Amino acid sequence: MQMETIIQQRKLDADVLQQLLLHDQWDTILQQTADKVRRLVYGDAVYIRGLIEYTNICKNDCYYCGIRCGNKRAIRYRLDKEEILSCCKEGYALGFRTFVLQGGEDPVSTDAWICSVVSAIRERFPDCAVTLSIGEKKKESYQAYYRAGAVRYLLRHETANPAHYRHLHPASMSLENRKRCLYDLKEIGYQVGSGFMVGSPGQTVSNLLEDLQFLQELQPDMIGIGPYIAQKDTPFAGCPNGSLQMTLRLLSILRLLFPYALIPATTALGTIHPKGRELGLQAGANVVMPNLSPVRVRALYTLYDDKICTGEEAAQCRHCLEQRVRAAGYRIVTDIGNVKREK
Ligand code: 5AD
Ligand code: FES
Repeated sequence: MQMETIIQQRKLDADVLQQLLLHDQWDTILQQTADKVRRLVYGDAVYIRGLIEYTNICKNDCYYCGIRCGNKRAIRYRLDKEEILSCCKEGYALGFRTFVLQGGEDPVSTDAWICSVVSAIRERFPDCAVTLSIGEKKKESYQAYYRAGAVRYLLRHETANPAHYRHLHPASMSLENRKRCLYDLKEIGYQVGSGFMVGSPGQTVSNLLEDLQFLQELQPDMIGIGPYIAQKDTPFAGCPNGSLQMTLRLLSILRLLFPYALIPATTALGTIHPKGRELGLQAGANVVMPNLSPVRVRALYTLYDDKICTGEEAAQCRHCLEQRVRAAGYRIVTDIGNVKREK
């Protein structure tokens, strides 16, 4: 069978995936097919999620991440409940119906506190969904957040290869525990998001194949990928950034493998290229996650260098994105944007 037909019929076995990852000659057809599939399932809709980066305090020491505990140069902050609620209030007025609470693994943010924030948001904004992105926790903790009203959880697996995981993280962390968390979250009933960085230090094409295979096992509802971007105060400072081309290629592959998934065009993608997010949407992504954090903390949540939308213009993100999404050929919708599932 011709490669074009294989792509169009979504018959992507491991050999085909490897060909697609290694060569650029299929990029155009890959992207066109991904856009066709995305339009069949989701039309031209782009869902928006308001991201609230509520703490950059983290007990972990991931070697790629700017808010790792070992980074003594990071200026730390934690928003209180009222500040978080006022971000939501502002977001609600702008049309957001999903709030994503993201933070480092901050030991001071207890389960009781997290539950009280989640239930306060649910009470004040009953027509909104709360997504958590707060790292590895005990199953009981995940259960408590779910009872408090959180229905979605984002936790990237980062890499599905144990040796590569070890290269990116200190010995206190393990791929095994990361996977345990993801399966616990699924079992509890969360809509689960996972994903990985593209071009992280030491990553090989075979690692990427393992990432795709792991995602096929996990069957997440949401998949977040973005280029790795070096942060100057990490052990990986100076490592080359992930590429635009490889990220776009993977977004298209993900759309073909997971037609129903919610896939964001990430801030990291917008950081490595001025039109990165627009290109991401055209490659198959269907979600954007503008920042709703107070402007004064945005530049402090520096997972990587040169992050966009951190200046005074940041409050305008929602309108800026509206225009960008339209210019790219899509349309922002402001409903709650639940995942569609195969009939
Ligand atoms: N470059 C790109 N993405 C990063 N993340 C953390 N550090 C970096 C970096 N230096 C990603 C991780 C994490 C998500 C919140 O941000 O994949 O899961
Ligand atoms: Fe915080 Fe990685 S440095 S989870």
